[in-house]
Formats: sequence, structure tokens, C-alpha cells
Amino acid sequence: MEELKRPTRRRGFYVRMRLLHKNGRQQDKNLCFKYYKWVLWFSLTLYFFSSYFISHKPIPLSKTRFANSKSNRALIESVNTTFLHQPTSNNKGSLRDLKIYVYALPSIYNTDWLSNERCSNHLFAAEVAIHKALLNSDVRTFDPYEADFFFVPVYVSCNFSTVNGFPAIGHARSLISSAINLISSEYPFWNRSRGSDHVFVASHDYGACFHAMENRAVADGIPDFLKKSIILQTFGVKYNHPCQDVENVVIPPYISPESVRKTLEKSPVTGKRDIWVFFRGKMEMHPKNVSGRFYSKKVRTDIWRRYNGDRRFYLQRHRFAGYQSEIVRSVFCLCPLGWAPWSPRLVESVALGCVPVIIADGIRLPFSNAVNWPDISLTVAEKDVSKLGMILEHVAATNLTSVQRNLWDPSVRRALLFNDQAQQGDATWHVLSALSEKLDRSHMRSRLQSESDVDT
Ligand SMILES: *[C@@H]1O[C@H](CO)[C@@H](O)[C@H](O)[C@H]1NC(C)=O
Ligand SMILES: *[C@@H]1O[C@H](CO)[C@@H](O)[C@H](O)[C@H]1NC(C)=O
Ligand SMILES: *[C@@H]1O[C@H](CO)[C@@H](O)[C@H](O)[C@H]1NC(C)=O
Ligand SMILES: *[C@@H]1O[C@H](CO)[C@@H](O)[C@H](O)[C@H]1NC(C)=O
Ligand SMILES: *[C@@H]1O[C@H](CO)[C@@H](O)[C@H](O)[C@H]1NC(C)=O
Repeated sequence: MEELKRPTRRRGFYVRMRLLHKNGRQQDKNLCFKYYKWVLWFSLTLYFFSSYFISHKPIPLSKTRFANSKSNRALIESVNTTFLHQPTSNNKGSLRDLKIYVYALPSIYNTDWLSNERCSNHLFAAEVAIHKALLNSDVRTFDPYEADFFFVPVYVSCNFSTVNGFPAIGHARSLISSAINLISSEYPFWNRSRGSDHVFVASHDYGACFHAMENRAVADGIPDFLKKSIILQTFGVKYNHPCQDVENVVIPPYISPESVRKTLEKSPVTGKRDIWVFFRGKMEMHPKNVSGRFYSKKVRTDIWRRYNGDRRFYLQRHRFAGYQSEIVRSVFCLCPLGWAPWSPRLVESVALGCVPVIIADGIRLPFSNAVNWPDISLTVAEKDVSKLGMILEHVAATNLTSVQRNLWDPSVRRALLFNDQAQQGDATWHVLSALSEKLDRSHMRSRLQSESDVDT
């Protein structure tokens, strides 16, 4: 069983470059050994950064205004590249001094699930990854009285059905409700704000509605006990939907950064791409009408019927362990809706430099104020899938190079991946950045504010 690392309170939001610091020789050695993975990671990223910048001008993706001066210095000292050109704002400005308290819940709510190794790696595992990253993060506070937000770590996606291997989330509501009973009776913070400064992850098909089928999800709705809280969710659409009718942040689905790194070690993003259009996944020839709905609204079936046999399209219907090695060889990767509009393919394609072709009408994409999706992806309307070939030919003949250049900016890949140790500009960091925009919900800050109002 994997245990979550015990919290450390060390400073340095970015990768800790402490090995450069004053400790004795022997300790340096141990630290070096301990940090060799990071060093390796840095060397690799440096390799990709430099191979990229030899031919391209850096494109600032996100306004990195939350720069942490200390970690910047460490970073610049260690890699000395030009890609981080953010202003060296002072420490105080970083994430607006956001402070998060992470409840220590009994392990039945979270880490017990990790006895199944798949639980920390599957596509819904953002709930695990964000928890881990917060435990090790600089924004974590051990004093709940100074916290802006309260993170409630309940893993609900890890109960795999023995029948089909898919997560069974039938227990999600009762598990979360029981966690809330616990924290609201043992601590004063939930009652104080009725949960509005409490943060949950709902990384499932329809977010906090906790059902994979849209009609059931909508009928069940978001449970009352979560309606005032902040939900980090993979589900998001641009129109009104009962399953996002709550304060929320759209987050990317989880893909292991380790697996991406391994794939890119073998084939860099700028390598040869000999597959023109790629899709591998569930594609029913005769989709069943499940309570009035068809899987993928039949879009995947249409793709299969129209383009199976077209030599430009590499369409596969069965699981394959070398899946990522195919993506990294592909120019365009199809990301059609499944039951829900979002799919892990979005992150996989971006991380591996394959232009995502998003086919999911009305989808709201993760971190859209930081990731400029129109610059790095293509969107095709569900009704236009029969014209995919023509549409992609047109892009290939016109602006494919510029889309790829934008996509291959390392900061794009970084923004969609959750690391165990949050790094500036990675997915956890963007979550924190989004939370720092919601500080008006912080009970602590509003109290300080009203006190200073009284003073003046
Ligand atoms: C490192 O960065 C400094 C300024 O940031 C620059 O003057 C110097 O040439 C760089 N060194 C290398 C080896 O790139
Ligand atoms: C796992 O899910 C099934 C089906 O939803 C449920 O019956 C079972 O109680 C769950 N297991 C746990 C430990 O919550
Ligand atoms: C919070 O409210 C609930 C229900 O009103 C109550 O049972 C609980 O004791 C309260 N918690 C605290 C810490 O006062
Ligand atoms: C799908 O099933 C629902 C009832 O479950 C039915 O009302 C609907 O007409 C069916 N649609 C098609 C295209 O068969
Ligand atoms: C590339 O062209 C397509 C239309 O062919 C357009 O939708 C897309 O926005 C363009 N992307 C970029 C980055 O220029």
C-alpha cells in the first residue's frame, strides 16, 4: 500500500533545489541521490526546451505573475534558460499568499483505496494527484485558523467495478457526506461558512452529479451538501448544465507525467510523425440506446463508418499498452466525446505534441484563461465529422505548422500535468491560481477586511 508522504513544511514552491545549498558534503550526497530523479527530469526538460528554442521564439502562454522569486532564482541558476521570462515579483505576490488547510481524514476516505495501484494512475486520479501535491505544497498551512480554503480529500473514483473494471461511483455521495459530517462535528470551519470555503475534487464524467450517464446525473443533481462549496471538476460545458451549477474550476483529467516523460524520452515531440490521423478507443459499430442515449452521441460510430479503410486514418478499437507511442507518432489526434464531452485524449495529445481535434460541442476546456486552446487545437462540430478528412487536409495545407509550434511550447504540456510536487505552471499550480482568484470566499480574508473597515 502506498502511503501519502508525510507533509514537509519546507519552502520553495518549485522543485526544491536544496542540493545547491549549504548542507554538509555527506548530506549533499544523500540529497543528490534523493533528488537524482529531479535532476534527470530537469536535464530532460532542458533538452526539450533547448531543442525547441533553437528553432523557435518563445511564446508566453500564461501570465506568470505569481512568480516566486526564490524558486525562480534556483531555477535560473540551475538551468539558465530563457523560457522563464516572468517578472521577478516578490514572494508576497505569489498566489496572493493563498493558504490551504488539508483535512487529515481517516484513511477509509482516501489512502485505503490506493492499495489498488491503478487508483493513483487512472484518468480520474486527479483527486489523488491534487491531494498529494497539496500535502507537499508551499500554500499548505497547518493552522486552520489562518487558512483561506479547506481541502477535503475524499477519493470517490477508486472503487472499480468487478464486472467491467470501470469505476463504480455509487458510493460517492455517502462517502463525501460522511466526511462532511465528520469535519463539521470535529471542527468549526464548515458550519462557519456552510462549506463555501471548502474545496472538493469531482473528477468524474459529470462532476459532482456523480453518475456516468447524463440523464441519471442530471436527475440526481449535485448533492445539497456540496452546493455551496468549490468543486474541481473535469466536466465543463459552455451552456447551463445542472452538473456545473456550483462554484467550479475545470481541471484536466489525470495522465501520469511519468508515463509522458518515458514516452518523450524515446520519441521527442518534434520527431517523425508518420500517422496522419489517430484514434484508439471504444467505437461501437452498433451503439446501444442506453436510456435514450447513444454512446458518444454516435459520433465515434460515424467516424468509424466514414473513415475506417481510409489510409490517412489510423483507427483502432482495442486497448493497447503502447498507446502513447502511437500518439507521439501522429499529426492529428481525434478527441471525440464519450458519455461526457471531456476525454483523457485531450491531455494525452497535448502532452505528446499531437494536434487535438476536439469533437464535443460546447465543451469548456481546462484552464482556458492560461492555455490558449484555439491556438493549439482544432475544433470540429459533431455534425461535421463526415467532413473530417477535408477539414484536416485544409489545416495541413495552411496553418498546421503554426498550430504545432504553439502546441510544442513546453509550458502547454506542463500546464495539463499534475506532478506529485507542484511546479510553477503545472496543473496543480493552475488550480491554486484559480483558487487565488476566489479569495472573496475566504472567511479569513473577509474577516480581516471587515476589521480594517471598522478601523478606518
Ligand atoms: C546565464 O544567464 C545569464 C543572464 O541571465 C547570461 O548572462 C549568461 O550568458 C547565461 N549563461 C549561459 C551559459 O547561458
Ligand atoms: C463500491 O461500489 C459499489 C457499487 O456502487 C458499492 O456497492 C460498494 O459499497 C462500494 N464499496 C465501497 C467500499 O464503498
Ligand atoms: C455544526 O452543525 C451541525 C448541524 O447543525 C451540528 O450537529 C454540529 O455540532 C455543528 N458543529 C460544531 C463544531 O458546532
Ligand atoms: C432510445 O430509447 C428511448 C427510450 O429509452 C426511446 O424513447 C428513443 O426513441 C430511442 N431512440 C432511438 C433512436 O431508438
Ligand atoms: C488554423 O486554421 C483553422 C481553419 O482552417 C482555424 O480554425 C484555426 O483557428 C487556425 N489556427 C491557428 C493557430 O492559426
